[in-house]
Amino acid sequence: IDKGMDLKAEIRRLCKEKNAVILGHFYQADEIQEIADFIGDSLALAQWAAKTDADIIVMCGVHFMGETAKILCPDKKVLIPDLNAGCSLADSCPADEFARFVNQHPEHVVISYVNTSAAVKALTDVVVTSTNAKQIVESFPQDQPIIFGPDKNLGNYINSVTGRDMLLWDGACHVHEKFSVEKILELKKQYPDAAILVHPECKGPVAKLADKVASTAGLLKYAVESDKKNFIVATESGILYEMRKKCPDKNFIPAPPEDSTCACNECNFMRLNTLSKLYNTLKYEWPEVKVDGKIAEKAIKPIQKMLDISA
Ligand code: 13P
Ligand code: SF4
Repeated sequence: IDKGMDLKAEIRRLCKEKNAVILGHFYQADEIQEIADFIGDSLALAQWAAKTDADIIVMCGVHFMGETAKILCPDKKVLIPDLNAGCSLADSCPADEFARFVNQHPEHVVISYVNTSAAVKALTDVVVTSTNAKQIVESFPQDQPIIFGPDKNLGNYINSVTGRDMLLWDGACHVHEKFSVEKILELKKQYPDAAILVHPECKGPVAKLADKVASTAGLLKYAVESDKKNFIVATESGILYEMRKKCPDKNFIPAPPEDSTCACNECNFMRLNTLSKLYNTLKYEWPEVKVDGKIAEKAIKPIQKMLDISA
């Protein structure tokens, strides 16, 4: 990359020339959020991918988001700036082990969080995101046995708000598990009037402190509508970019993780995507997200079911 190059202008030019669209998750670095055509939570990214008429989708997020877009749009080219952008939560649920678990409970409906590989989605009856998990779980009769995977924290939270007893897979996200009750309470002493916003991937004791537990889009909406001035935000700190943009007069404080010497409230996978990688991805149309045809054929059903219920 030429040092004097205006990367943002070149990215926009390539998008136009190739009829490409850049979709970005709220956890992306600010520079990516600034240039994306659309930013949103996991549900919105899937909904956007399903309806775009672009020829190329560049997914600025993590790999499972690219897979979901590819499954929904098999004829489009789906690119991701860094193929190593994985997800510890998706990795905590290997498809072969999940298949054994599912086979041991044949009477259970299988509900999987979108943070899973395509192979796990292929074993699933309906996919959910944190925005629609409660609604989708409640679409099943109260006595329907359910397997919920892979996030045990989201699963426990949904169990607590729906009165269900879903069987949970023992998975978690390494970023959201690191928030500490003590550190949040210390911050709350400094900002006694602050609202505490918590993503349901956080551990139960952190969620108990919350004024609002919701997906990234849900937390953003709450912040926009709230009369409060200060907010302590317990989720990946990339969301602060859009919160500050939408609410310039409000004060958003990222909740510190247990070890405040590290930036562990940033997802190292999400942050692998950079402006220069995005430029190269568009220029060379590489790396591409591929999904095995047989897996995609099965995985589309639970994704489509989610989109239909959430429409
Ligand atoms: P949402 O944007 O759907 O809340 O998901 C959070 C997340 O961890 C995505 O990786
Ligand atoms: Fe996965 Fe956690 Fe990163 Fe989200 S924040 S992509 S759940 S590792």
